[in-house]
Amino acid sequence: MKVPFINLKRAHDPIKAELLEAFASTIEHGGFCLGKDVAQFELEFGKAQGVSRCVGLGSGTEALHLIACAMGIGRGDEVIVPAFTFIASAWFAQYVGARAVFVDIDPESYTLDPNRIEAAITDKTRAIVVTHLFGQSADMDPILEIARSKRIKLVEDAAQAHLATYRGRPVGEIGDAGAFSFYPTKNLGGLGEGGCVTSGDSALLDQIEVLRAHGSKERYLNHFVGYNNRMEGLQAASLNVKLPSLAEKTKRRQLIASRYGKEIKNLRIKLPAVVEWGESVYHMFTIQHPERDQLKTYLADNGIGTDIVYPYPLHLQPCFSYLGYKEGDFPISENLARNCLSLPIVPELKDGEVDYVIEKINQFVG
Ligand SMILES: Cc1ncc(COP(=O)(O)O)c(C=O)c1O
Repeated sequence: MKVPFINLKRAHDPIKAELLEAFASTIEHGGFCLGKDVAQFELEFGKAQGVSRCVGLGSGTEALHLIACAMGIGRGDEVIVPAFTFIASAWFAQYVGARAVFVDIDPESYTLDPNRIEAAITDKTRAIVVTHLFGQSADMDPILEIARSKRIKLVEDAAQAHLATYRGRPVGEIGDAGAFSFYPTKNLGGLGEGGCVTSGDSALLDQIEVLRAHGSKERYLNHFVGYNNRMEGLQAASLNVKLPSLAEKTKRRQLIASRYGKEIKNLRIKLPAVVEWGESVYHMFTIQHPERDQLKTYLADNGIGTDIVYPYPLHLQPCFSYLGYKEGDFPISENLARNCLSLPIVPELKDGEVDYVIEKINQFVG
């Protein structure tokens, strides 16, 4: 049996006709850069996510960048970033000339450890970025308390956390702003790049709307140095087709995760923790094993696709060598990078394929 880690064709085949119809409509009305489809998506995604408002952009990375710009973060500032996350969480600081200050993660939730933040705060700290990694919300209340008491901004990298909640509150608006990605493999993904910013702060979102369109409020009059970060109409059209099934697909991810959680009995495997503050939407189902590479090869030999997400913590990335971190600085992140392996969790997996993954993992002796 072959179980792919991700199979986008399987996700798109059943909705191909609907997608083509949506594209035909976009071609007809001509709203290719922002426009009607984007406006509809912003409204509908905002509702689905349970946030006040959403501004569509070209990618999740652009969302993080424009939040940093709109918050006025820049040279001389410091931003706290988890040491284990996707690189773009750190681009939040880097792109505006601020310094990323890494902090280790909580070993259970794999998200920023609230207990380690205060030691990293200086009088230059302007923001904390949390990543709701793999679909699991970070422990927001204690982090929010630190951010408020120190008067620093709290930014949620929610690129992997569509529909995720924290103690019943939707992510994306718990802090000052949230960044979502609609990259094709995300829980909600377009047929290309896409992203958005969510926030309860409408002045911040107004500013991001200006920044995404060359800093211009009035045609050809540029009030700010801006960017071309508009969401494309065709991407929004594809997302509008996919959004109505997101809740159901999320449930399917959660069901597969709960089967893995109950039925994987291999004692040397550490399963992702189920934390009390929020149910994961399982963008990834990431296990740990001391012989991770051997397990990956064994699963590949049995036709099961897996991925190492992520093999390097951020403080050891060559692009950040100038920050002066070294191996041993963030042992939990380093350990996770060494041992992590993400299993197939896409909603299109068939029950028989889930059975097979469980069976093969339970047979692994290492
Ligand atoms: C945690 C995280 N942050 C940010 C991003 C960036 O999003 P995009 O790929 O849409 O630029 C991603 C996407 O891979 C991500 O996983």
